[in-house]
Amino acid sequence: MTEAGRAIGVLISGRGSNLQALIDAIDERRLAAKIAVVISNRGDAAGLERARAAGIETLVVDHRSFPTRDAFDRALSSELGARRVSLVCLAGFMRLVGTPLLEAFPNAILNVHPSLLPAFPGVDAQRQALEHGVKVAGASVHLVTAELDGGPIVLQAAVPVRDDDTAETLAARILIEEHRIYPEAASIVLSGGWTIQGRRFIRGGDSYQTPGINR
Ligand code: GRF
Repeated sequence: MTEAGRAIGVLISGRGSNLQALIDAIDERRLAAKIAVVISNRGDAAGLERARAAGIETLVVDHRSFPTRDAFDRALSSELGARRVSLVCLAGFMRLVGTPLLEAFPNAILNVHPSLLPAFPGVDAQRQALEHGVKVAGASVHLVTAELDGGPIVLQAAVPVRDDDTAETLAARILIEEHRIYPEAASIVLSGGWTIQGRRFIRGGDSYQTPGINR
C-alpha cells in the first residue's frame, strides 16, 4: 500500500508526546504512513503545536459545543472520513469513544495506555499500579472497543517498578515504552494480515513467533 493509502488521523487532548513519537517514526521511516490530520478536543493542547511544527493539518473539535456525545463522535468521524483516514490513533485523547466513531472505523482505532492491561484501566494508571504494589508495570497498545481500555491488545512492553519510584518516575519509564511500541503497533495494524480471534489480536502466517515460546 502507498503512504497515501495509509492515512492516519490522530486524536489528542494534551501534551502530545505519543503524537510526536508517531511523527518521528514516520520521519525516520519506521512507519510507512502519513498523518492526515490531528484533531484535539481542546484548543490549548500542546500537541497541536507539535503537529503544526511538522506541517500537519490541525483541527479543534470542542466536545462542549455538541449537545450529545454521539453528535461529537459524528463530527469527528466526518472530519476523519473526509480525509480518507484508514487508522485512527488516540494519543492522550481524554474522551470516551462512542458508537458512531466505532462503527465508522471498525477495528481501526488504536489507543496507547500506560499499564499492562487488563490491569489498571482508566485514569491515573501509573499511580494505580504503584499503589497496588505491582513489581512490573508497562504500556499497552490496543484496538478500541466500547469497553474502556478493553479491546484486543496489539503490543505490550514491561518495565520494572522500583522501590523508590513515585508515580512520576514510573510514568516517565513507561512513557519511553509507549513511544517505542505505539508506532510499531500502528505499522503492524496498517500492514494487515492479522485477525481477531475472541479477544486476541493474532498476526497472520509465519511472520511472527513469540520469542522464546516453542510450538
Ligand atoms: C499517555 O501516558 C497515554 O498512555 C495516555 O495518556 C498519556 C498521553 O500523553 N493515554 P501524551 O499526550 O501522548 O504525551
